[in-house]
Amino acid sequence: MAAWRMSRSFLGTPPSVTEARRFVTTFLAGWPLVDTAELIVSELATNAIRHSATKRFGGRFHVEIQAERHRVWLGVTDEGGPDAPAMHTPGGEEEGGRGLLLVATLADSYGVRGDEYGRTVWATLLVPVAGAASAPFRPGAGESRG
Ligand SMILES: Nc1ncnc2c1ncn2[C@@H]1O[C@H](COP(=O)(O)OP(=O)(O)OP(=O)(O)O)[C@@H](O)[C@H]1O
Ligand SMILES: [Mg+2]
Repeated sequence: MAAWRMSRSFLGTPPSVTEARRFVTTFLAGWPLVDTAELIVSELATNAIRHSATKRFGGRFHVEIQAERHRVWLGVTDEGGPDAPAMHTPGGEEEGGRGLLLVATLADSYGVRGDEYGRTVWATLLVPVAGAASAPFRPGAGESRG
């Protein structure tokens, strides 16, 4: 099955988080981990509009999905800024700080790349081959037949 890649930019405003979630659920419809992918992108998009230069007037963030049958790569790219994503200590005293911990827990791998001019926080999800009710997918396609 051919891998595919899909991406879209969003305005850095709260309603865009909902749009980004819908973007994920539309293109990963029917994939076993679609809800997890949606949650991860929701956390990362929220971080982009809350903590990065994306929050400036007119700022944007970008969501990319790369899909293979058993593996999905998700990336949210922001407009950078002085602060970098930094996971809070589990059980620490700080308020908030659960988003990246949640992403780290849910994802098979995750990371950050980039600098003050733009950062991508990415995560991968794997479906074990044995449990492969997988059929991800071609973009926008329903179940494949044939
Ligand atoms: N895209 C980003 N750009 C810059 N800093 C970030 C970004 N994402 C996260 N951070 C920094 O990393 C910290 C941890 O992020 P995390 O999502 O875990 O917590 P939070 O957003 O503060 O709270 P919560 O997600 O629980 O509402 C943030 O407080 C922020 O300082
Ligand atoms: Mg957060």
